[in-house]
Amino acid sequence: LWQVLPGADDQAARGAIAEAAQLLSGGGVVAFPTETVYGLGADARQTSAVEQVFAAKGRPSDNPLIVHIADESQLEGLVQPVGDTERALMRRFWPGPLTIVMPAVPGAVSPRVTAGLDTVAVRMPQHDVALRLIAAAGCPVAAPSANRSGRPSPTLADHVREDLDGRIDGLVDGGPTGVGLESTVVMVEAPGVVRILRPGGVTAEQLREVVPTVLLDETLAGLDSGQAPSTAAPEQQLHAEPQAAPRSPGMKYAHYAPRGTMLLVNGDASQACDYIQREVAAAAARGEVTGVLTYEEHKHYFTADEVVVCGSLEQLETAAQGLYAALREFDVRGVESIWAEACPSDGIGLALMNRLAKAAANRIVYV
Ligand code: TXA
Ligand code: MG
Repeated sequence: LWQVLPGADDQAARGAIAEAAQLLSGGGVVAFPTETVYGLGADARQTSAVEQVFAAKGRPSDNPLIVHIADESQLEGLVQPVGDTERALMRRFWPGPLTIVMPAVPGAVSPRVTAGLDTVAVRMPQHDVALRLIAAAGCPVAAPSANRSGRPSPTLADHVREDLDGRIDGLVDGGPTGVGLESTVVMVEAPGVVRILRPGGVTAEQLREVVPTVLLDETLAGLDSGQAPSTAAPEQQLHAEPQAAPRSPGMKYAHYAPRGTMLLVNGDASQACDYIQREVAAAAARGEVTGVLTYEEHKHYFTADEVVVCGSLEQLETAAQGLYAALREFDVRGVESIWAEACPSDGIGLALMNRLAKAAANRIVYV
């Protein structure tokens, strides 16, 4: 374990980064901070190192990993010549929370990284410690989020330790991450046409400032297309399954989930709050340990065993930052039944709703 806060450039920080980089280039697996969530890194070219990442996480091997670079020169030999649209995205959003899926140079990284696909997902994180570590390791760094598979992603070094202690070779503690949700994963379908495979830190609105056409599967927001608030009983509108096959392999897994059973409640805010409080009261009467995931502005509505605030509705970036720690909180408290309040799905809200829906295993109720 090393501690290197962003910007720290003293002897100790430099030594820590050098040691962690040496572990990486020697085939070890090292967790490190990024601006989104902590990643669990391995040299993307070394199959045995990449296999250790899958093993440590307990991750299904058909789910490919993101390759992290510190400099655009690392694209050479990794991906096919970069198109104009990709180039424009890189110029605007790198370093930053945008992952671009591109045609790979065959053999450039271990087939375990791409899960056998002919594309590779690449990003340049906007985090001083991550960039220095990757540069010092001198290799493309494959890194999924540094959590046990299925657990909420880590936004603190403590979360990494909770999940992976004893299963990894090193951990660089860089303090809390910034965005709190993972990067946006995109693929360019044609010049000027981008598809969002996973919503994240770069919003659809921001992408539209650079690319004329931004496509999005509605299921990615945890919303079904054309789903309007309806007058039918909420119980009749449970959506147990996503409606379309996700294109990003990782999107099909139940992720980010707390151990308790979670229901995401969408619709008019005051009706949602009333519905949740009624359900909480009924569950409490059955003897269940109840929890509510809500926002600063609404916390006073609820009387559950655990009322966890992830952030403010007025400032959804704070809710993004706090979501994963909030989900972990329910586990610490042994909460059995959780109701989560939906948020508006514009801006970072799209990624938040996507993660909330996944945490709820797509159990969404419209009130
Ligand atoms: O913010 C992030 O992206 C974090 C930090 C550590 O950088 N990483 C992360 O990695 O979230 P992971 O492995 O948890 O998620 C990778 C996502 C998955 O949804 C995966 O299916 C998708 O990227 N992906 C990776 N390679 C792909 C490819 N070639 N084509 C389509 N999707 C791909
Ligand atoms: Mg992950």
